Amino acid sequence: MEGDGGSSRGAWGSQLGFLLAAIGGAVGLGNMWRFSATASSSGGAAFVVVYIALTFLVGVPLLLAELAIGRRAAMSPIGALRRVAGRSWVPAGYMFVAGGFVIFSFYSVIAGWAVRYGVEALLSGLPVEPGQHFGNIATGPAAALYHVGFVALTALVVMGGVRAGIERAALILMPTLFLMLVGLAVWAATLAGAAEGYSFYLAPRFDELLNLKILGDAAAQTYFSLSLGMGAMLTFASYLGKNHDLGRESGIIAVADFSVAFAAGLVTFPIVFALGFSDQVIGLTADEAEGVLFIALPGAFALMGDLGRGIGVLFFAALSVAALTSTISLLEVLVSSVIDEMHVERKKATMAVGLGVALLGIAPAYSLRVLASMNEIAGGLLLGLGAFLITIAVGWFMHDPVAELADGAGPLTRKLLPGWYFLIRFVMPVITGFVFYSMIVSSLR
Ligand code: TRP
Repeated sequence: MEGDGGSSRGAWGSQLGFLLAAIGGAVGLGNMWRFSATASSSGGAAFVVVYIALTFLVGVPLLLAELAIGRRAAMSPIGALRRVAGRSWVPAGYMFVAGGFVIFSFYSVIAGWAVRYGVEALLSGLPVEPGQHFGNIATGPAAALYHVGFVALTALVVMGGVRAGIERAALILMPTLFLMLVGLAVWAATLAGAAEGYSFYLAPRFDELLNLKILGDAAAQTYFSLSLGMGAMLTFASYLGKNHDLGRESGIIAVADFSVAFAAGLVTFPIVFALGFSDQVIGLTADEAEGVLFIALPGAFALMGDLGRGIGVLFFAALSVAALTSTISLLEVLVSSVIDEMHVERKKATMAVGLGVALLGIAPAYSLRVLASMNEIAGGLLLGLGAFLITIAVGWFMHDPVAELADGAGPLTRKLLPGWYFLIRFVMPVITGFVFYSMIVSSLR
């Protein structure tokens, strides 16, 4: 095999192509909307501490495990699990695909909010009462319409292979998004009353660190944000050649993904407290907290006058593109699975999947409670089970995953691989198993 991929399935255009697509798929609404919402409803700083620990101790090893399966098998999740771990793993593959289908359905509703806020900022200005405004637009026919539009846009990209264009747009817009976050974080620090926000976000109460609900929520956030536990990273790695140091690239993906989430919190929480929205977004139930980002940011932009309006347009445009690179990754998993398993051609597969997602998403577009439940089940529980299964598949069924990851690896990765394998076999099943257990326990409560 030469270069990247090297089979007829298609391959990444360049070394950097995979990294950009993987980061683009990882960085999205999960880092901004979901991170802020979960931190609000689940313990603030205690959640953040557990989330940071899990991202690097559990997220990175798991990411490596998915990349190992994907690159070895060069297939989408169902076939990859069959090839690497055996026939009995096929149902797990189907579970991955079903979970991705549900995630896509509610995710694009939220992406629709982002687009709508951008359009409004451009055409009619920012809402005066951001809390009330969010309540008005989050659900209903317009929300459904924006959702369907976003699915259609994603399908067009995946179908037409406009990937080159998207990759280039993402290359410019993702750093822009990050720089804007940093700029906004600096601005937020100057607000009177920001301190309370920092203390909520950054000063954990240590008795909360042992809370099962926080553990489950933080793990779900880690999996969701890094796109782990349903075969998205696996699918991306299926287009890879052997010339990648996957250990190094996993580290880069995790750092990039974490940085965006952390910066988003540094913007959101000082603003929420400084502008007096804390009672509207903190300590609420999961479905009530879904709006935190969409309430705090327009509220802040409105304070900045015309400049804020401009920033708002740019910000929501960048957020929409970040969401698009993520929905592309979700759709790609579903479409490549349909192609591989049912031998349907790409265009038809994309249209069928897109139609299904558009229909299923109508439900969360009409009810925040449904949205929160889909997020909890598909974006949490199923990923938790998926993460556990991937550890078992790689640790106990896959033949010599270390050899797979050693291909193309530099000296540091090679040195760490035996430790990684030990972790995957003996430690990670316990951790991911316990995390899954705590997800179940706290969702039953
Ligand atoms: N990680 C993306 C985000 O944070 C969302 C996403 C894309 C995802 N693909 C996924 C989540 C696969 C779970 C599984 O916005």
